[in-house]
Amino acid sequence: MKVTVFGTGYVGLVQGAALAEVGHEVCCIDVDPAKVAALEEGVIPIYEPGLDRLVQENAAAGRLTFSTDPAHGVAHGRVIFIAVGTPPGADGGADLSHVLAVAQTVGERMEAPRLVINKSTVPVGTEAAVRARIAEALAARDRAELDFDVVSNPEFLKEGSAVADCMRPDRIVVGVTRDDSEALLRELFAPFNRNREKMIVMDPRSAELTKYAANCMLATKISFMNEIAAIADRLGCDIEAVRQGIGSDPRIGYHFIYAGAGYGGSCFPKDVKALIHTARAAGCEPHVLRAVEDRNADAKTAIFEKMQAHFGARFGERGLKGRTIALWGLAFKPNTDDMREASARVLMEALWQAGATVQAYDPQAMEETQRIYGSRDDLRLCGTKEAALSGADALVVMTEWRMFQSPDFEAVREALSEPVLFDGRNLYDPERMQGHGFTHYGIGRGARAPGEVKMDQPRTASATGTASAAE
Ligand code: UDX
Repeated sequence: MKVTVFGTGYVGLVQGAALAEVGHEVCCIDVDPAKVAALEEGVIPIYEPGLDRLVQENAAAGRLTFSTDPAHGVAHGRVIFIAVGTPPGADGGADLSHVLAVAQTVGERMEAPRLVINKSTVPVGTEAAVRARIAEALAARDRAELDFDVVSNPEFLKEGSAVADCMRPDRIVVGVTRDDSEALLRELFAPFNRNREKMIVMDPRSAELTKYAANCMLATKISFMNEIAAIADRLGCDIEAVRQGIGSDPRIGYHFIYAGAGYGGSCFPKDVKALIHTARAAGCEPHVLRAVEDRNADAKTAIFEKMQAHFGARFGERGLKGRTIALWGLAFKPNTDDMREASARVLMEALWQAGATVQAYDPQAMEETQRIYGSRDDLRLCGTKEAALSGADALVVMTEWRMFQSPDFEAVREALSEPVLFDGRNLYDPERMQGHGFTHYGIGRGARAPGEVKMDQPRTASATGTASAAE
């Protein structure tokens, strides 16, 4: 089938390449000529495991092409994906200008039947808005007789495993009202809909809400656990034991219940905000969603507060001023170079504000960090995780990259001027760290920075960690 994808961001590029991989003839359109030129050379603008191979092989086979020409895009695809950005607008709602600009182009250029598939994360009602925009543009050309339909097909891929998620989706949600459009979608997605029925068909508005509900539910699980972690810290309990204790209930499950330095990325923060906005506009006060957002803001500053308390107790007024902090992990999560809404940014900015210098290392996100912050005296980007430690007063870990999980702790201790470890992703067992001679602070691990308010309860062996200890 001939397919056009508008937007070569995360969603569009991965979807386009995946559709080409299963044999469709895909043309990806983007307004950025430099990006299109790079993609034509096989250069991928983002770090995403497996995407370079997928793009390069399918481009070489002629099934995947790139263009800046929207007219060509509309002429090419029997089906047209809209996969452009929906950034948060000034009022917290999603900005639909890019989505509607594509709709306008389709209406201005189409000469034959078209099925428009909305893949961007868009507020409820966008399918109708896209439909209206195309109809208006057709009417303005006196071509109202041309047949088109608009469907909603939200994307659930995760950064870092986007290719695998897209090639083997756990569900294909489609919001569609016409039988012929559903049949076309079934044909398009047949290669991804094997082994069992994955297509969940519903009305477009419900499909649009499904995407927000999925992301907001996941964000809620994380914020809930971060709240329990904050309580655990005060009570001297261990959130890791609690996590295992509750995750074993299949109604709760083990996924997305890791406490840490808060969720980031391009989706959760934006989508929670957007659903709050949608709910209010619909006359419903979103109590839970507001709390999810507030808790995440606190989760992002929790590690800094522990650092402040630790160094305040150690050096009094001067606190973090003049300290050097080794920072492992900049990206909002492992296996990506994405720094959008990354918790490490909130931490770095707070450290700078307090007069500290950051020595940072991340396996993928250093270029992006350089691009965002430029050159500054209080940021040293280091070539290795070991180099970041040299002479630092403490180590803080903010992204759970696999390479940070089992470092040579003796070497870490020796490289630091003091053996202090702030563990923003609960990678390390507090007792083992104490055994290695570190002062260790995690999130909800019951460790108390000297100035932190807490209840005076001794930790017991059964509250320290393993599944068997928790049973
Ligand atoms: C998310 C959704 O998972 C995906 O389905 C949707 O299509 C887009 O948004 P993504 O933004 O790539 O994907 O990241 P995800 O892996 O979900 O992680 C989001 C954030 O939550 C990260 O900052 C991560 O560190 C944090 N997180 C995740 C936790 O703090 N605790 C957890 O238990 C899980």
